[in-house]
Amino acid sequence: MSTDFYWRIGMEGDHASLRTPRRYNRGHAGGHRPGNIAPAIRGGRLDGYSYIDHMAAVVKASESAGFVGGLLPSFPITEDPWATTSALARESDTYRFMVAFQPGFLHPLQAARMSASLQRATGGRLVYNIISGGGGAPQLWWGDKVQHDDRYARTSEFLDVLRGVWEGTPFDYDGRFFETAGAALPPLLAGQPFPEVYFSGSSGAAVDAAGRHSDYYLSWLEPFDDLRVKFDGVRAHSAKSGRAPKFAVRIDIVARHTEEAAWAEIEKGWASVDRAAADRAAQGDSVGAARIKGWVPQHITGFRDLEVQPNVWCGFSLIRGGPAFGLVGSYEQIAERLDQLTDLGVDAFILAGNPHLEEAYRVGEEVLPLLQRTTPTRVRTLSTR
Ligand SMILES: Cc1cc2nc3c(=O)[nH]c(=O)nc-3n(C[C@H](O)[C@H](O)[C@H](O)COP(=O)(O)O)c2cc1C
Repeated sequence: MSTDFYWRIGMEGDHASLRTPRRYNRGHAGGHRPGNIAPAIRGGRLDGYSYIDHMAAVVKASESAGFVGGLLPSFPITEDPWATTSALARESDTYRFMVAFQPGFLHPLQAARMSASLQRATGGRLVYNIISGGGGAPQLWWGDKVQHDDRYARTSEFLDVLRGVWEGTPFDYDGRFFETAGAALPPLLAGQPFPEVYFSGSSGAAVDAAGRHSDYYLSWLEPFDDLRVKFDGVRAHSAKSGRAPKFAVRIDIVARHTEEAAWAEIEKGWASVDRAAADRAAQGDSVGAARIKGWVPQHITGFRDLEVQPNVWCGFSLIRGGPAFGLVGSYEQIAERLDQLTDLGVDAFILAGNPHLEEAYRVGEEVLPLLQRTTPTRVRTLSTR
């Protein structure tokens, strides 16, 4: 059995380690300072090395470390994943690009045309991470006031139209959010492989839409038993429409040669814990984010209080924002947990670590070879040279 392992590309900048979580030194808009790279000031002048060069390095590193592709997240603070993908795709001829995007802010015809062009240009390496939005400030940034469940109705319409025009046969659609009349991709673009659909969201509306549209139902990491129940729910719901999605989980990893060394890394990051920042990030109407918040204890006496089961730690959002759950432990322990998740039904993983470049090598070299229950999908054929 083989499993698709993706690596997260840091689209918001990158920092030197979990120990310096609030200090981006790679690619962030915080200015050019001593110690920064991509770009840096050298000899008083910008060195011409841009953040896209750094992301290209992460692509190459994660590809050679055994990852099948990269996730390109999309938030108001990030680079644009479509433009970034078209710039990075030429760095490899096998690496897949999982573009996160919110369907509401793009006409489905435009999305279809961009996607088909990318499929042609990359030999079918585009993957979708369909995000329907978590409300609050990030939605208003787009001027989007559509309510929670309606956002999923919009996502569903969007994907119906996108599929409807994909093969090049004239397609009419008269929905609540989108309309088309005789629309179709032109022969030049029609009939490319349709990108695999990863679909996230924990609400009933999300599970309903995922049941109809997803190839992979994607979740943040949660306590394993809860994840099992969540997947059972998605499975049962999808079966009603005769579908059986696969499952994927996005996981932060702190893996070191010993468990103690891994926790020492967390302890250093813990020095800059920022509960208020984590609370701010959890504002909005995301059911998934509220679910996660429910597992983070209100009263914390130390970072180990947040270890909800062995090696499963829910304090990442307190250190650097973003999802709360990740794995912390020795290389062997992390591999064991990933194996347990495979046994639990996870078909694909999106792993992440800071700094993205170095940790891609570490996880690829030290953890992935220890997996017992699966092997990472390899798409690059071995050179005989
Ligand atoms: C693994 C994963 C990755 C996500 N990536 C993004 C992202 O890049 N940008 C974004 O705005 N939302 C992202 N989301 C948020 C979801 O798409 C969704 O908007 C959110 O979970 C709220 O849905 P819910 O209320 O149904 O839980 C992600 C969610 C998950 C589980």
